[in-house]
Amino acid sequence: MRELPRRRVLVGLAGVFGLACGLFSAAGTAQAQGSLVLYCSVQEEWCRAMVTAFERETGIKVSMTRKSSGETYAQVKAEAANPRGDIWWGGTGDPHMQAAEEGLTLEYKSPKLAELQDWAVRQWEQSKGRTVGVYSGALGFGYNTNEIKAKGIPEPKCWADLLGAKLKDEVQVADPNSSGTAYTLLATIVQIMGEQKGFDYLKSLHKNVNQYTKSGAAPAKATALGETAVGIAFMHDIVTMVVDGAPVKVVAPCEGTGYEIGSMSIIKGARNLENAQKFYDWALTPAAQALGAQAKSYQVPSNRTATVPPQAPKLADIKLINFDFAKYGSSEERRRLLSKWDNEVKNLPK
Ligand code: G6P
Repeated sequence: MRELPRRRVLVGLAGVFGLACGLFSAAGTAQAQGSLVLYCSVQEEWCRAMVTAFERETGIKVSMTRKSSGETYAQVKAEAANPRGDIWWGGTGDPHMQAAEEGLTLEYKSPKLAELQDWAVRQWEQSKGRTVGVYSGALGFGYNTNEIKAKGIPEPKCWADLLGAKLKDEVQVADPNSSGTAYTLLATIVQIMGEQKGFDYLKSLHKNVNQYTKSGAAPAKATALGETAVGIAFMHDIVTMVVDGAPVKVVAPCEGTGYEIGSMSIIKGARNLENAQKFYDWALTPAAQALGAQAKSYQVPSNRTATVPPQAPKLADIKLINFDFAKYGSSEERRRLLSKWDNEVKNLPK
């Protein structure tokens, strides 16, 4: 009983102290600079490095959600009437293009635009200023050398090799609805083989697929762990596994391959518009783009003066197709191909 008044005093003191702290921080930089809601569609490690560096540099408090490209697009669309996000950074360009066409994102001309590679500016032009390229990388696959040897599987070099009978249940790739990586595969195969033959290919591949993951880079990790012999992903995501010491080989498929223009868009109705523009300008600087390699993400950065990480697959040495980003990023085509894939491939019995 005697304890009670003393405890009350303590609580009272804590309250006063808390209030003082609140007032103090309200006057400090973090509070004064406000906040930013970031939707991030690259690897978690890189997302976190961007948040930390941006907060340190600007005092703006960032609240970040990491989701795959297709998932983020779906979220931005679902929230259109009451937007919660301010900026969407990273992830393949196609859902960014679709969001632009559907008026879910805002036009913005950054003073940094002039410093960017042509492919990054083209993305901005094709979307009428609503999205911009932040990095690029080629699609490919990786295989676990131990698994391949142990199972007597010939080393795959081409897309066609992934249909081999010995690879039954040994190939992993993401679901193109959630993952931009997997949508890049779908669009790549259709562009290389034509739609009919491309879908025949994807149906045959389905027999060898052990799992359609949600995130595009998950198959690279599963390959490194030997959970699958082959993983289809962006080549730079497989390089990350090699850098970490995994027994994995990275393949640029012999028929040629597609690539991504990882993009960034400001969300229409952004509550922290000024801070979104600050992040946008900053994310296009060489200093911000250097954070990718530090987080073991080895894409080619879009700023012409940014350092290309030595580990990044050399795009000039890879047989790249002339990827039609405008067509495959258009709302109608993306929706049509995804529903065709759902109907004709995903639900096929094995
Ligand atoms: C990884 C890659 C990025 C790519 C992203 C797409 O993070 O490093 O280059 O843009 O995957 O993710 P998603 O899960 O949509 O395939």
